[in-house]
Amino acid sequence: MVSDRDGIKMKAVITGANRGIGLEFCRQLSGRGEEVIAVCRKASPELESLDVTIVNGIDVATEQGIAQLKDRLAGQDIGLLINNAGILRSSTLDNLDIGAIREQFEVNALGPLRITAALVDNLQAGSKVGIVTSRMGSIDDNDSGGTYGYRMSKAAVNIAGKSLAIDLEPNGVSIALLHPGYVRTDMTGNNGLMDTDESARGLIAIMDRLGLETSGRFWHTNGEELPW
Ligand SMILES: NC(=O)c1ccc[n+]([C@@H]2O[C@H](COP(=O)([O-])OP(=O)(O)OC[C@H]3O[C@@H](n4cnc5c(N)ncnc54)[C@H](OP(=O)(O)O)[C@@H]3O)[C@@H](O)[C@H]2O)c1
Repeated sequence: MVSDRDGIKMKAVITGANRGIGLEFCRQLSGRGEEVIAVCRKASPELESLDVTIVNGIDVATEQGIAQLKDRLAGQDIGLLINNAGILRSSTLDNLDIGAIREQFEVNALGPLRITAALVDNLQAGSKVGIVTSRMGSIDDNDSGGTYGYRMSKAAVNIAGKSLAIDLEPNGVSIALLHPGYVRTDMTGNNGLMDTDESARGLIAIMDRLGLETSGRFWHTNGEELPW
């Protein structure tokens, strides 16, 4: 999937790589021979056991983290960038935790935008960017309310992804907004309808099929297109 350019192997960069869905992206992509750069705040033993290059100490919500990542990846061709790092904090109407809402914007919405912007020079014609968003950010699909900060931050990253698709089209770079399903990870307290292997497999298949003609769309891991 991550094609060669002039004989140079392009790399797959994954954020939030130390656990959950991000770790599984790293496992599956390295397992099929991709050169994976796993980006995290702190590596886990599971990540360290994989055949990947680890970039530690990167907080996607900070200026410093983004600058460090840009610096570490300078001059490297990225064929696939998966902005996966994310957080979920509760916020209800009678308990609006504004600080937590802001924090979710920083990580879930601004993180993918800042990282993609910082790495634009590493992306080549044919490169792909996946943004792991959530169906919780779909306005059409919202029939249960609540979860203000998470829903708002994921809706925000969806529109950022659509703009990225338009802005990066002349560069030949395509973008996919990716809903991983309801997945058993730390984020869900290990509740869910599927494990990370099924979720990551579906999302990688979507990225494999992605091209400029399908750029800027919102996908469920099962291959269905989701409403905004
Ligand atoms: N699980 C689901 O059902 C589900 C459903 C819809 C969407 N998603 C989305 O899928 C993505 C992965 O979630 P998951 O279920 O795998 O959750 P997870 O197990 O909680 O993993 C979250 C990952 O994001 C990283 N992260 C959080 N804040 C960060 C920051 N400021 N800087 C760098 N890394 C940070 C975490 O690193 P640390 O270990 O350093 O905290 C961890 O690697 C998220 O974007 C989430 O919103 C998940």
